[in-house]
Formats: sequence, structure tokens, C-alpha cells
Amino acid sequence: EAESWAECLDVAVRTALRAGQMVRVSVMQEKRVSSKSTPTDLVTEADQHVEELIISTLREKFPSHRFIGEESSAAGEKCVLTDNPTWIIDPIDGTCNFVHSFPMVAVSIGFAVKKQLEFGVIYHCFDGTLYTGRRGHGAFCNGVRLHVSKEKDVSKALILTEIGAKRDPHTLDVFLGNMKQLLSTPVHGVRIIGSSTLALCQVASGAAEAYYQYGLHCWDIAAAALIITEAGGCVIDTTGGPLDLMSRRVVAAGSQEIADYIVQQLKPISYGRDDDD
Ligand code: IPD
Repeated sequence: EAESWAECLDVAVRTALRAGQMVRVSVMQEKRVSSKSTPTDLVTEADQHVEELIISTLREKFPSHRFIGEESSAAGEKCVLTDNPTWIIDPIDGTCNFVHSFPMVAVSIGFAVKKQLEFGVIYHCFDGTLYTGRRGHGAFCNGVRLHVSKEKDVSKALILTEIGAKRDPHTLDVFLGNMKQLLSTPVHGVRIIGSSTLALCQVASGAAEAYYQYGLHCWDIAAAALIITEAGGCVIDTTGGPLDLMSRRVVAAGSQEIADYIVQQLKPISYGRDDDD
């Protein structure tokens, strides 16, 4: 069985590279942009085409597997994690960046069996960086082993977050309040790059100490959570408990100390769950 997941990982890598190529071509073409849950939750035709490419390729090879994809979910497919082998796919993470040709866009493919993540693949479409992780086998960037930052002192931390799609005054107050709380710790810095998966990959690489967000989705976390864990980091819920893929909340850090500190500072923003109908 373990070997067959290795084959799945191989296929995932090849599929992510092909999808990334499609993203690089599409970014130079005229984009048809529309919005989903809110006016700032963007989608383009490219998101849908890239997801179709990924899912049809994987489904042909693994017909019995299940698929959770950002655009399939937007089109009304159920977003529920069962014990079956399940692929969790974000065809274009950083759609707003993609729309503006801001070069931080990734393809993310995670794979879970019995609700446990087995591997993750994240491909940075513009600089060609490939992040991979397989449970029990480590995390890699272009084949080089990844290690998180071992910094325990939050006042020396570089912290990443993302804004999320809700922009009502209460949400913005809490979002900015959380950021103010961390900035006044003071931490070294806070960054927003516009792609949850690539931000999480910076934590896996040790280029940032931590990441937190309310409002992301299972396809933004799945692959990256495995990669960070395999790089030696911790990925938990904003309440301090174990990560819940469907909860739309995450705190990830190189060290437990920094993760715990962030958990204590955050005030919650309620986004509901991915697996709510
Ligand atoms: C989004 C981006 C964004 C983050 C959102 C994600 P998408 O993914 O990563 O930076 O704030 O929470 O859902 O829609 O571009 O795939």
C-alpha cells in the first residue's frame, strides 16, 4: 500500500508541473474574472480549466479515489473528507495575484487516506520552485531537504498571514487587531504575500517563523500542513488543539513556543466550516 502512495506522489508532481505550465501561459492571456463568496473572493476561467486538467488526469489514473477541489466545491460538489483516498486540490492559489500578474501563484495538491495526510505537492508557477513532502520521508524544495526555523523567541520572528475574503467592518477590526497585537509584541515583521500555500512553504523553509489565518480552506492547508510537519514544524488550530482541515483556521510555526504564543494572542474570526452544507 505504501508503495502505491509513492506512485500517487509521482503522478501528483508531474500533474502539478503541467498545471503550472498552464498557469504560466494563462497569466499572459486576457483573464475573465468573476467573484464567488464575496466581491474579493476571485475566480477566473483559468482556475476552472487548471482544476479540470488536474482532476481529469488524476481520475484517469486513480478512478476509485475522491477529489476535493476549490472550483468543484464552488460549483456545488460536497467538500467532505472520508476515509477513502482523497486528493485535495487548489488549482491556482493566489488567484488575486494571478489576476494582477503578481508573481506569487501556486498549484497545490494534497493527498489524504483515512483522514491522514500522506503527501503534499506545491508548485510555485513563476519561479519553478517545487515543494514536496511525504509522511515519514521528509519535506523537500527542488529535491533539497527542508527544515523549519528553530527560533523560540517570538520577538525575533517573521510572521506571515493572509487577509481572507471577508471585509466587513467587524472582521477588519479583528483582523487588524490581531496584527496590531503581534506587531506590538514586537515581532520582527509581518508579511502578506497573497498566497496561503506559498506563505506556508516559507515556514517549511525556515524563511519565516510562523503563519496564521482565519478564512482559508482545506485546499489551502492540506499539502502545506504535511510539508511543514515533515520539515519539523507544527501546524495546529487557532484554539491550540490539533489541526482540523475543514475548520478554515490555522496556526503554523517552526517551534511549538511561537505557535503557542500566537494562539494566545489571536481573537477569532468566524468563517464557518468547509464541510458545512
Ligand atoms: C486564497 C489565497 C489568499 C487567502 C485565501 C485563500 P485562492 O486562495 O491564498 O491569499 O487569503 O484565504 O483562499 O482563492 O487564491 O485559491
